Amino acid sequence: MNASNDFSRMPKRLGTNCIKWDTLDSTYHEEDLLPMWIADMDFCAFQPIREKLQKVLDQGVLGYTFAGDDLYQAVIDWQKRHHHISYTRDETLFISGVVPAIAVVLQALSAPGEAVMINDPVYPPFTNVVQANDRKLVRSALETNHGKFLFDFPDIEEKFKKENVKLFILCSPHNPGGRVWTKAELHQLGELCRKYQVKVISDEIHQDLIYPGNIFTTFLNCGDFDDFAVTLAAPTKTFNLAGIKNSMIFVRNQAMRQAIKDVMLMNKQDEINTFGYAGTQAAYELGDKWLADLLIYLEENMILVRDFLKTHLPKIKMMIPEGTYLIWLDFSAYGLSDSALEEKMIHKAKVVLNPGIIFGPAGSGHMRLNIACPQENVVEALRRIQNAFAK
Ligand SMILES: Cc1ncc(COP(=O)(O)O)c(C=O)c1O
Repeated sequence: MNASNDFSRMPKRLGTNCIKWDTLDSTYHEEDLLPMWIADMDFCAFQPIREKLQKVLDQGVLGYTFAGDDLYQAVIDWQKRHHHISYTRDETLFISGVVPAIAVVLQALSAPGEAVMINDPVYPPFTNVVQANDRKLVRSALETNHGKFLFDFPDIEEKFKKENVKLFILCSPHNPGGRVWTKAELHQLGELCRKYQVKVISDEIHQDLIYPGNIFTTFLNCGDFDDFAVTLAAPTKTFNLAGIKNSMIFVRNQAMRQAIKDVMLMNKQDEINTFGYAGTQAAYELGDKWLADLLIYLEENMILVRDFLKTHLPKIKMMIPEGTYLIWLDFSAYGLSDSALEEKMIHKAKVVLNPGIIFGPAGSGHMRLNIACPQENVVEALRRIQNAFAK
């Protein structure tokens, strides 16, 4: 391993305006907190990405930039090589972030007042985007079976009919549960959407973070869904580039593509950030081995958490993630309210996790742990949680 992918080395983050570390004091007024929350990795960026950014800086000028052939090719090749799907340049749209992409697609493919379905629990901005855009939020709670989330198909169908749902925002792989939905599950979901004429936004930002034994299938490879579904992807989770965001909307149907482009133009969102461009290209051209090493490290952290909880904190039930670096923990055996659980985590354990309740009503009694950090920090977080909860 070279210095750039020594995942065990903690980079300096305090004092860098980093949301994960530098907002704790003002949020919690508590000293010595260990942040294990927002989906941001405490690892240095892959060295060739940093070199590419340096080259951009060395040009001296940081003016308007357009997406060139080399960027399209890097993205298209990554999708082909890692996800076995062929996109053309026309089918690939660049946009600053995945959440902005959800908003744009939602505006393009639905109208105010229409019903939009999301799962419960799910990544909180899904709720915010739906509500801020004046759509009607419809939740379908996931079932838990043998410690895994499953779609509740009868509930989804019932609500499609009853609420006249027009759009489904899918989180694939699932945040916070780490489920890597199987092709069969996604096929069944897609067919249900076709039957009720529900369009699909498949947020696949975690698509590259898959543990051995699981297979991620991009939604457009799960059936004949091109005419009612779009997929969203980005190098920002995979390579931790959220500070230089650049994301993709993949859309094959021409009418949907035009509608999405129109909304982007209305908001003058048709340009690309120079650093986002450079980072994406370097990541996708050169990052295969770095990603493979990252996944080995993350899996070790995940197993460490699993084994520690089993031995020392058996009342906390862990959903074993199939992908993502996020772990969904069930604290309900402690019988605490959501606010008491958060209080205890912050002021007794002094570890910052995401409270489960922000992911939807089904998240009550849960917390989400981010394990994308040096192992030393994972061990320290577990030790602190043990001190606070084992007694
Ligand atoms: C499912 C999901 N979508 C989107 C995002 C954020 O995307 P962006 O920062 O590109 O808006 C995250 C970040 O954690 C996420 O988990």
